[in-house]
Amino acid sequence: MNNPFQILIVDLGSQYTEVIRRSLRYLGFHSVILPPSKSLKWAEVYKPKGIILSGGSASVYEIDAPKIPKELLSFGVPVLGICYGMQWLAYINNKSTVHKVPEGKSYGPVEVSLRKSKLFVNLSSQINAWSSHGDSVKKAPTGFKIIATSKGGKVIEAMENTKEKLYAVQFHPEVEQTEDENIILNNFVKKICACKQDYFKKDAIKTICKEIGENTKNILGDKGVAIIGVSGGVDSTTLAAILTPVLGKQLKAFLVDTGGMRKGEIEKVKSIAKKAKINLEVISKYKNKFIENVGKSINAEEKRKNFREVYGEVFKEVAKFYGATHMIQGTLATDLIESGSTGKSALIKTHHNVDLKLGLKEIMPFADFFKFEVRDIARSFGLGELVSGRQPFPGPGLYLRVVGVPVTTELLEIVREADDEVRKILEKHNLYNKISQTIVALLGTKTVGVKGDGRVYGYSLVVRTVETADFMTVKGFYLPPIVCEEITNTLVKHPKIVRVLYDWTTKPPATTEFE
Ligand code: XMP
Repeated sequence: MNNPFQILIVDLGSQYTEVIRRSLRYLGFHSVILPPSKSLKWAEVYKPKGIILSGGSASVYEIDAPKIPKELLSFGVPVLGICYGMQWLAYINNKSTVHKVPEGKSYGPVEVSLRKSKLFVNLSSQINAWSSHGDSVKKAPTGFKIIATSKGGKVIEAMENTKEKLYAVQFHPEVEQTEDENIILNNFVKKICACKQDYFKKDAIKTICKEIGENTKNILGDKGVAIIGVSGGVDSTTLAAILTPVLGKQLKAFLVDTGGMRKGEIEKVKSIAKKAKINLEVISKYKNKFIENVGKSINAEEKRKNFREVYGEVFKEVAKFYGATHMIQGTLATDLIESGSTGKSALIKTHHNVDLKLGLKEIMPFADFFKFEVRDIARSFGLGELVSGRQPFPGPGLYLRVVGVPVTTELLEIVREADDEVRKILEKHNLYNKISQTIVALLGTKTVGVKGDGRVYGYSLVVRTVETADFMTVKGFYLPPIVCEEITNTLVKHPKIVRVLYDWTTKPPATTEFE
């Protein structure tokens, strides 16, 4: 049967499963993600050219650990096991070859020495990789050759059984923290599975836009009315730009002024919407309700839920006003993964716009897409400014950046001004566009300072600058000391700000936002 997907990814519960698919698409290959229970049947019908077993949080010894059908491992096409996938390959060949990492969980960067293998072509013999596992393979099973170890040789980092076409890596070749991260996946699909590139950006953009327009119109029919919240971010704005010419008056686009926006944000969004020919209504009357409701708690998840509550209420009223039948969301694949809506991956954060349960039919045309693809579409609509000139901003906005103390109008104003000052300084030094996201957060723990010979018991601000391709993982963007000094000196001018701290922690473990 005709198969549009050359690679089958078996989802064993990793946060990074979608990242594997994203990386393959970035490299030019279509792939499909399926749970173990459906993978064998699918493979028998569609005959993929290669199989990737994702990582996962379980231990192979757990009773309800995901189990990979045996037949899939002898299916005749190359198999690459990643992390849990590697442990499973070892366990299934010899149950005693997997053990708990003696030092507890291995989590973070690891130096890996590579030996000769088709998997490692074009890589140097030593790479920095990202590890995240509680178990590891202590002995390669019969037929397998060790092809990589951690520096010093303690941990088996990769093994292969070329005769059986089985390959495995303990670290995560798909995440950005692994040096030259795409090379290993590229070697696997191209050199080992002999896949041909079948995902071409230019064609993809045209097809994506056409299909999104047609599908949405089909769902709405002639009588349906859809609402779409436009935040001015690349996802919702691009989606509204695609749909406006197709749906015309059947689409009602609006912007909720939550009170947690960046300085000058509303005006900026309005002008972008005008450029994209989106007819945008701004709704501001709920600002105080947002502040009141979010300010009720300092707990990160409760704040997000309280924000969502008001957000949902606004949508309900808007829907009623327009007689809407559908709601369109610019939710991406990554949003769904991190809000726990995909496969077996864990809930990290409640996202403000996932699963709002408004009683409207939801349409998520971007649910299968990644940031780099939506950015390409935005550029094709002449909305390059969204991509290059503006950094992403979470729906709950500055509410997530007043941390450990109840949100008030005054504290929101401090972070809003500070955020703007930091942006201006980074722009002046030509750094802003090189940074994927800049966060300025106020920490609620008061500390002592001295200003004008007097004691001040004030707040600290944290400046976090990160770089990333997709926000599933991030690394710190280190600012030069001279820029840090300028930022610090500027921010401490506020009478209540005593200290400025910098945060360049990678994700994982630190998420991009503090809450
Ligand atoms: P985290 O903090 O999870 O953030 O590493 C990844 C990216 O998502 C943004 N973010 C959100 N965006 N609603 C959004 O629209 C949300 O609730 C939300 N939470 C985080 C975050 O700013 C970063 O770009």
